[in-house]
Amino acid sequence: MLDINILDKIKEIRTPFYLYDMELLENTVREVVRLSEKYGMEVHYAVKANANARILDCIASHGLGADCVSGNEVLFALERGFPAGKIAFSGVGKTDWEIEAAVRNGIFSLNCESLPEIEVVDSIARKLNTRAGIFVRINPNIDAHTHKYITTGLEENKFGVSEHEFDALADLLQRCEHLDFKGLHFHIGSQILDVEDVYATECSRVRDIVSYFEGKGLRIAHVDLGGGLGVDYTDPDSRPVPDFETWFRTLAEGLRTDSGHAPSYRLHVEPGRSIVAQCGTLVTRLIYVKHGADKTFLITDAGMNDLIRPALYGAYHKVENLSALTRPGSAEKKYDVVGPVCESSDVWGEGRILPESFRGDLMAIRSAGAYGQVMACRYNMRDLAPAVYYDGKGEILEQY
Ligand code: LLP
Repeated sequence: MLDINILDKIKEIRTPFYLYDMELLENTVREVVRLSEKYGMEVHYAVKANANARILDCIASHGLGADCVSGNEVLFALERGFPAGKIAFSGVGKTDWEIEAAVRNGIFSLNCESLPEIEVVDSIARKLNTRAGIFVRINPNIDAHTHKYITTGLEENKFGVSEHEFDALADLLQRCEHLDFKGLHFHIGSQILDVEDVYATECSRVRDIVSYFEGKGLRIAHVDLGGGLGVDYTDPDSRPVPDFETWFRTLAEGLRTDSGHAPSYRLHVEPGRSIVAQCGTLVTRLIYVKHGADKTFLITDAGMNDLIRPALYGAYHKVENLSALTRPGSAEKKYDVVGPVCESSDVWGEGRILPESFRGDLMAIRSAGAYGQVMACRYNMRDLAPAVYYDGKGEILEQY
């Protein structure tokens, strides 16, 4: 449940809006930094999860790098203070201008996803009379046990170079004179909850693939294992800071050599969701309580255009009635909570048990900090929901 102190401060703000708990974000980033030092990892925050300037500023100020997936993300990460030497750039369809911008800015790595892309990066670096730092993203053909749409490491997915091209890849890398080949990149999916199992399997596959390329005479100085750590959408308050320790430990242990030593390469990760999901809440107002034939609908003023995850992936987000906090002891009822957009998939949750709710109540849609505001659109010509930031004492820091 959101802190009751904040309720008074936000009740007059026009809804819907995204509310960010900057203290929770700070605590989460501090924990990531502490554990990355303990396990010897370099962390690049996946900007795609939430690209708000204030969020990026907080993350950059703790020294994390950035993982970007478009030229605009690279340029914005630079603008918000992420050093070029800590920026990675992934994506299957980088255009020439995006590659050129990344190379000109001397970012740490372009994570190339196909052989044709490697050739283009090499030729652009030649044209600019420089060398481009690259990783090659590998498709390890591993099932991340997550939603089909956010699984990226299977051969049926468009991402990375698959095993049948490994020989050709090794030959190509030997030939490209304007590339500084740094290592291998992997990212097998998102919202991974089966952490120990999935990542241990991935690590053993990574060790085989690294040996294969070393056997071909390529030096692997870095390995980037991408993001993917899942968060608890059902009960966001039970573990507001996700379990980074289990994730990092599983990776560090899984990549040890047969003799039990740490690998010779430097390890990188790219978490997005796990850093920002729990600090964000979509705050919305209940516009109508509508009695259907056999159920009661709560109709909110936020819709799928503000947060598309339930409509797109059938994702679960916890819904809370904030105003009911001031009515202790109110009876509970079963509701379908829905948005106002003209689509039947604009549903926050079916059969949710909530305190009896009334027109005008403030509602919270939790765990909305990742892939929320960044994926919003103006469908139905609706306004984009703004952001409101508050600190640990329940004071509003900024509103826009
Ligand atoms: N690195 C790469 C190359 C990625 O493609 C992604 C996310 C990440 C890192 C960060 O993954 P995370 O730690 O956030 O799981 N819109 C979807 C999620 C799409 C994730 C795409 N890739 C959702 O709302 O669930």
